[in-house]
Amino acid sequence: MFAIRLPSSDETDVFRDGARRALAANIPPREIAFVTHDSGFLFDDFPKSDAAAALVTVPREFAGLMDDVLCHRADDRFALLYDVLWRLKHGEPYLLTNAADPAIAKLALYRKAIRRDVHNMHAFVRFHEKGGENGPLFLAWFEPDHFILKKATPFFADRFANMHWIIATPIGTASWDTKSLRFGPAMPKPEHLEDEVLSGLWRTYYRTIFNPARLKTDAMRKEMPRRYWKNMPEAELIPAMIQTASQRVIGMDREPDPAPRFAEKARPRQQTKTTADTMPKDSLEQLKANAAKCTACPLYKHATQTVFGEGPSTAKIVFVGEQPGDQEDITGKPFVGPAGQILNHALEEAGIDRARTYVTNAVKHFKFEPRGKRRIHSKPNTGEIQVCSHKWLVRELDLLEPETVVAMGATAAQALAGKAMAIGKNRGHILQWPDGRRGLITVHPSYLLRIPNAADKKAEYKKFVHDLKLIA
Ligand code: URA
Repeated sequence: MFAIRLPSSDETDVFRDGARRALAANIPPREIAFVTHDSGFLFDDFPKSDAAAALVTVPREFAGLMDDVLCHRADDRFALLYDVLWRLKHGEPYLLTNAADPAIAKLALYRKAIRRDVHNMHAFVRFHEKGGENGPLFLAWFEPDHFILKKATPFFADRFANMHWIIATPIGTASWDTKSLRFGPAMPKPEHLEDEVLSGLWRTYYRTIFNPARLKTDAMRKEMPRRYWKNMPEAELIPAMIQTASQRVIGMDREPDPAPRFAEKARPRQQTKTTADTMPKDSLEQLKANAAKCTACPLYKHATQTVFGEGPSTAKIVFVGEQPGDQEDITGKPFVGPAGQILNHALEEAGIDRARTYVTNAVKHFKFEPRGKRRIHSKPNTGEIQVCSHKWLVRELDLLEPETVVAMGATAAQALAGKAMAIGKNRGHILQWPDGRRGLITVHPSYLLRIPNAADKKAEYKKFVHDLKLIA
């Protein structure tokens, strides 16, 4: 009998290497055992056959299956994988397609469990903001069922690329410092995790996506298993929302619109000209606080919060986008999601330090269509652009007094020019906005994200950087 000794954590590479050497040495599954370091058994020494092992290849489908299954907690995962690997190499090349084979069926179940666990981690991790020496640190505690830390956390590095965060779990920690993802040992659940602001936002978000008319309690419990609730601030709303759902559906038609109707609000505004010139002179901070309470158009009803501009009040360059997206709506900061990532890269390439610029949007609330659990971006209409930009963007610019204002995309250009502007025709040269300020029109970074062809995408990105260089 031979033994492959696996460390009690991170055994993936050791298993791969051991299985390869066992296969090269022609050791059948019944003669091999996979044991962890602390196991007290004594086994024969494992044969060294590194040169032959290096030649062992495995089918790509098996490699993918192994990658998932090794994250499972079941003790028999190694033996099952080696058994399948052995048979693939010894006369059963189509084994992976035989769903009736007991080993294959079991491995498929393990793989499904891993995928569900990863999905749950992506859906149910909740960050809490903590003060840190180098700015805010976002901390989350999560209890996965399996060893999925390395598999699941690159998603958060991608999604929250600009934040410093740590996800602690009973099986290890993952930390991201905006550049690299690191893994460390497990740590106990941090105490006093609760952060009132972020928790409040999660609760607001949950209230907006909860549709009492579409409530299916069983499906919901399956989708959001109870064991995760203890770490999810919005979960405390669930029992009451389920209880009152049927009354809310009956009352929905009759429920008064929480905001005054848009047309009624807009009309007096047009008559009384609620623009910068009728507003009191105050600071950006005061303006931001006022904007946080804005109900001037219906968009505030479904958005989580107002996303105001960000940057130093001395900024010489202001970038204006369209409206916050999903991540901006949750974090309350402009351009932190995928479009923000592209903008950051392009600015860096153009030699512009984002930290010295001011970044804002023409419309300050996220407009979206709910589709299942997702919120799909929806373009703001002319009324929303006019009301919002007159109320907030014009005032922001008056307080900032920048040298150059850059419109990214058609909505920003419309807000700044007061009329629709074709991007293709007007982009890429210095112009003057109606208020006399120096300006530039370029594409919106989301446009680059939507280009399917890689070569076209690259060419358009270059043009975007070229436009930005005009102001650098
Ligand atoms: N798109 C925008 O126009 N603004 C943001 O803040 C994010 C995405």
